[in-house]
Amino acid sequence: MSSRPTTPAGGKLPLPELVEMKRRGEKIAMVTAYDAPAAMLADEAGVELILVGDTAAMVMLGHESTVPVTLDELIFLTRAVTRSARRPLVVGDLPFGSYEISDEQAVGSAIRFVKEGGADVVKLEGAGRMVSRVRAIAESNIGVMGHVGLTPQSATRLGGFRAQGRTAEAALALFDDALALEEAGAFAIVLEAVPAAVAARITAALRVPTIGIGAGAGCDGQVLVWHDLLGLYAGSTPRFVKRYAELAEEIAAALARYVGEVRSGAFPEEQHTYSIPDAELERFERLLSDRD
Ligand code: KIV
Repeated sequence: MSSRPTTPAGGKLPLPELVEMKRRGEKIAMVTAYDAPAAMLADEAGVELILVGDTAAMVMLGHESTVPVTLDELIFLTRAVTRSARRPLVVGDLPFGSYEISDEQAVGSAIRFVKEGGADVVKLEGAGRMVSRVRAIAESNIGVMGHVGLTPQSATRLGGFRAQGRTAEAALALFDDALALEEAGAFAIVLEAVPAAVAARITAALRVPTIGIGAGAGCDGQVLVWHDLLGLYAGSTPRFVKRYAELAEEIAAALARYVGEVRSGAFPEEQHTYSIPDAELERFERLLSDRD
């Protein structure tokens, strides 16, 4: 069994390959990215999916929640990501306010992500009325990913950033939501902050892959936010995050060394500077003194 699904002549991963991976029992790796260098590193690491998430609001733009980021801002970031992501499918995350009003609004926003941002597919949060948005986007020939469980755009209504589906009724409602999104044409479904046993049961019932974040190992794939995974900020992270590096600490130490060396004059050294031939330097001095 190959560890890396094939792509046509080393190009984009075909969307149907995700269902094939699920069928073969191969896990799908997804990560967020918000700029070209990050997308290149994610591509080189072999991820199947890069999400230009609305988490950009918090980790890139300094907002307190995902709600304020605009479609224009995410399209700008998506353009940078799609310039360097060759193999992974790039998912544009429809931000709050860009799809809730009507199916027409949702399709219009999805088209902008694809045409202006170069996104391959889009994602939106929720079920209920949002099932119709998913159907409308899928029927417009744009791949659309669902997202249920903890849906940060509606965190206020959900009572905060807390796990979902922890009673039998709530688990059943999540199960039905996931099935409805699949039936409407979603090519995959993110399950966020859902008990592992519930996520595994949903995963087994779906034909399309589930991508878990805080939903256990039974999902068909996993997604983490770039800054969480790499430890790019100090402070606590949600329980479901595994930090694979502590880059904030490394960056802080490097910057402190840089500032110290600028102040002490230890930087720059000879090897960081350009020279001028002695004869030219002498002529330069003569030209200066001729001016006096
Ligand atoms: O915006 C985002 O980063 C997401 C992930 C948490 C799935 O939606």
